[in-house]
Amino acid sequence: MEKLLIVDDDLGIQKQLKWCFDGYELLFAETREAAIAQLKRHEPPVVTLDLGLPPDPANASEGLAALEEIMALAPTTKVIVITGNDDTAHALKAIELGAYDFYQKPIDTDTLAIIVERAFKLHQLEEENRRLARRNPLINQVIGESTAIQKACRMVEKISPTEVTTLLLGQSGTGKEVFANAIHELSPRSDKPFIAINCGAIPENLLESELFGYEKGAFTGAHKTTKGKIEGADGGTLFLDEIGDMPLNLQVKLLRFLQERVIERVGGRQVIPVDVRVICATHQNLYSMVEDKSFREDLFYRVSEIVINIPPLKDRDGDVVLIARALLQRFNQQFSKNIKGFTDKAMAAMSRHSWPGNIRELQNKLKSAVIMAEGQLIDADDLGILSDDDASPLRLNLREVREEAETKAIVHAYSLSDSNMSKTAAMLGVTRPTLYSLVEKYNLSDLKG
Ligand SMILES: Nc1ncnc2c1ncn2[C@@H]1O[C@H](COP(=O)(O)OP(=O)(O)OP(=O)(O)O)[C@@H](O)[C@H]1O
Ligand SMILES: [Mg+2]
Repeated sequence: MEKLLIVDDDLGIQKQLKWCFDGYELLFAETREAAIAQLKRHEPPVVTLDLGLPPDPANASEGLAALEEIMALAPTTKVIVITGNDDTAHALKAIELGAYDFYQKPIDTDTLAIIVERAFKLHQLEEENRRLARRNPLINQVIGESTAIQKACRMVEKISPTEVTTLLLGQSGTGKEVFANAIHELSPRSDKPFIAINCGAIPENLLESELFGYEKGAFTGAHKTTKGKIEGADGGTLFLDEIGDMPLNLQVKLLRFLQERVIERVGGRQVIPVDVRVICATHQNLYSMVEDKSFREDLFYRVSEIVINIPPLKDRDGDVVLIARALLQRFNQQFSKNIKGFTDKAMAAMSRHSWPGNIRELQNKLKSAVIMAEGQLIDADDLGILSDDDASPLRLNLREVREEAETKAIVHAYSLSDSNMSKTAAMLGVTRPTLYSLVEKYNLSDLKG
């Protein structure tokens, strides 16, 4: 049942209203103090407030003070003010202070019932809207309730339906790609291709033909005409990742494309119009690159019509634990484990850690922790985050020290190499057979699966 607070010092009226409002859970208060106490305790969505409260019921000042206090404490409350006959001045004053409606005595319960019902409906609607506004439509990908991340999500929602060229700035592992994807998914182009290209990962001489495509015979090895990524994204979204790594000569060509929305394939003469929405990202400081002329200023202005700063994980209050919990579920499934959660020490260590590798680092640490953990809970040790207060007691046995260090290194490399044994071996500087024998020796059979 919905809670309705009735603030009135007239017990006769209280009784009358009790009959009329039997569909609600009724709360009563005779004074301002009592009303505020009820409000704090029950948070009723709707309040009826008689302005004539003791000590001087003939004067509306105490009632108006109560109204002000209610609006300050719970601004979404719908307050229906009840005034004396003809007391329009105070009624209007009350509306000015934030009352939802007013009603003049004598009370006609049927009319009041309708006003109250409308107030509840409106409150419910507004509550629903607030809930929807809070809800994160990127929820599956972007976990986080911190103000910093919510702000970035709100921006994504606003720009997604538009065509503005967006620049995502954030340290590595903060979720730039996730955000680029989200913008595409929330845009009218979502059923068209989303094409990503990492400008930093492709050798300079190949990047041009990757982006613009090439005509047959344009260079040795160009056996057939091939479309580039830009053309491939036609109708959809092009994500230029690590735009800061784009070589200067290609920056000119990219600029031309962004200005004129046409391309020419390498070795081609035909001008091809392309309709794409462009999103760029980088972990580099483009502002200082512009300053030292390693990034063209004109291109910078083209790509940064809107800039979204994705905050580092350490600036997202509370999100570390939230994301860690979600990832734990995922890794539990992946490794058929049933780890219930984190020890207090692990929680404290996670909150204190500065996470230079951001969410990617958190993923890696958790993955190895899930593999390593022996108990029901993940401890700070499993995460490999050393806290100041747990310097481990000196061990005398070198073999034990070595075994523990080797085990940790193996698990860590394994998680860094995306669970690939060959890469793990390469990373550790041992052969695959050596790695397998170590895995055998330390009982890390989980790793081979
Ligand atoms: N808010 C989040 N909640 C849960 N997982 C996330 C979140 N943000 C990012 N991730 C995950 O973290 C990993 C890194 O994200 P992503 O690749 O988008 O980061 P990036 O900024 O592009 O990193 P890099 O600079 O290394 O390319 C991905 O596996 C992604 O799914
Ligand atoms: Mg990335």
